[in-house]
Amino acid sequence: MTIWNLGSINADLVYRVPHLPAPGETLSATAREVWLGGKGANMSVAAARAGAHVRHVGAVGRDGAWMVERLLEYGVDTRGIATRDGASGHAVIAVDPAGENLILLHPGANREVSGETVAAALEEAAPGDSFLFQNETSAQEEGAAAAAARGLRVVHAAAPFEAEAVRAVLPHLDLLVLNAVEAAQLEAATGRDLSDLTVADIVVTLGSEGCRWIATARGEVVTIPALPVTPVDTTGAGDTFTGYLVAGLDRGMPMRQALGLATRAAALMVTRAGTADVIPDLAEVQAMRLG
Ligand code: RIB
Ligand code: NA
Repeated sequence: MTIWNLGSINADLVYRVPHLPAPGETLSATAREVWLGGKGANMSVAAARAGAHVRHVGAVGRDGAWMVERLLEYGVDTRGIATRDGASGHAVIAVDPAGENLILLHPGANREVSGETVAAALEEAAPGDSFLFQNETSAQEEGAAAAAARGLRVVHAAAPFEAEAVRAVLPHLDLLVLNAVEAAQLEAATGRDLSDLTVADIVVTLGSEGCRWIATARGEVVTIPALPVTPVDTTGAGDTFTGYLVAGLDRGMPMRQALGLATRAAALMVTRAGTADVIPDLAEVQAMRLG
């Protein structure tokens, strides 16, 4: 099966800092690196490294050819990526010694994906395929509606969180992935418990505490513990989790097993500096030793 990922592609400008900057503070970085990133690209690479066939749908600017090439190198099908006249998306990321981050996004071409581009790409999709998207591109509603109409498994990672954006796509979703902060924001925005939403499966990531899976129809809640690791850089760990989760479901794993795999992949990712370029492959995740 194919995973169709409508997702952002960003150049990640990563600055290592002694602490995250406070308002009005001028701070010197101790190191700077440039990586391929974007929540979308990170998820595509994670799913591809987990062994899935991934078609990325998105847009870069004229300065973004290197990112498309890199996606291709990592095994992602890039035929759905358009080139626009403006600049590609980029992110300025500060990472502190504890691995915590602060991210400033410039969406650029990511917000110039048209509904037509997505609909045209999905013409080739078949029932049983998955459609994944986040909140860093345009055309989310069109994409989710078209994918649902074609009988795809529709998965949304509601990050960066915007209440209106997620509310607009909720009716189309089969699986929603959120972190704990986003989950609380969604409950506040809808005035409902997550378990009362119509989305069949909701996964809340809890960082070092693992994740919680809510199967809303059965009212069942399952908690999967995290693996103990010493964080180096948490950037991209959530994206790695979601990419692996969708890849596991795509190959027919039951939810618990796919969540277990995703949890391990995310734990390994937390120990690595960088984003898409350092996402572990399936062999590394399976060989991972604990402690
Ligand atoms: O989740 C991490 C990602 O968020 C980074 O790669 C950055 O580009 C932003 O999209
Ligand atoms: Na990382």
